[in-house]
Amino acid sequence: MIEKKATNIVWHEHKVTREDREKLLKQKGIVIWFTGLSGSGKSTIANEVAYKLHQMGKLTYVLDGDNIRHGLNKNLGFSPEDRNENIRRISEVANLFVDAGLITLTAFISPYKKYRNFCRELVGNDRFIEVYTKASLETCEKRDPKGLYKKAREGIIKDFTGISAPYEEPENPELVIDTDQYSVEESAELVLKKLEEMNLI
Ligand code: ADX
Repeated sequence: MIEKKATNIVWHEHKVTREDREKLLKQKGIVIWFTGLSGSGKSTIANEVAYKLHQMGKLTYVLDGDNIRHGLNKNLGFSPEDRNENIRRISEVANLFVDAGLITLTAFISPYKKYRNFCRELVGNDRFIEVYTKASLETCEKRDPKGLYKKAREGIIKDFTGISAPYEEPENPELVIDTDQYSVEESAELVLKKLEEMNLI
């Protein structure tokens, strides 16, 4: 997938393990991976879920596309290669956060199935909850919170997901939320219900 340039490196087992940290935190390290079109509600719902979990005494962290692209991934654009590298790095970060014992919520369009599955394989199926925030392109375009769809239609922004770049729908996500239909509050409750069903909280 990516060339490994590092040589002569040795993996160290640490004295304090993930299990030790999870015991301390009284929670299981997981990734709640939100995927969907821009404006479909990923970040808003992820933030609401994080807030509710925090109120319940859980340690959470939200990794969010626009924010991460200001720092760690500022050198990446929106070509398929750059999007894949974006998701690869985020997957590695999410995996570290899971190792730290955190409930990690990610909000990236993550349009390619293969790279979403890369994260699933990295953190393990039992710790990966894929949530598809499903809204019609029409709804997302109507919401257009950042005015980006308008620019994409005008051709000012190229390779815009849903307009001039692809989005591959998840085939078997743990949860699909129709955000045309559900409010932010209801959507967050659906996520919490799913986590309870899966005995993750
Ligand atoms: S991803 O495709 O690599 O997963 P990511 O979630 O990090 O995307 O970033 C998406 C955000 O970047 C959008 O919410 C939007 O604000 C902004 N953006 C800027 N240009 C584009 C583009 N061409 N396609 C999609 N989103 C874009």
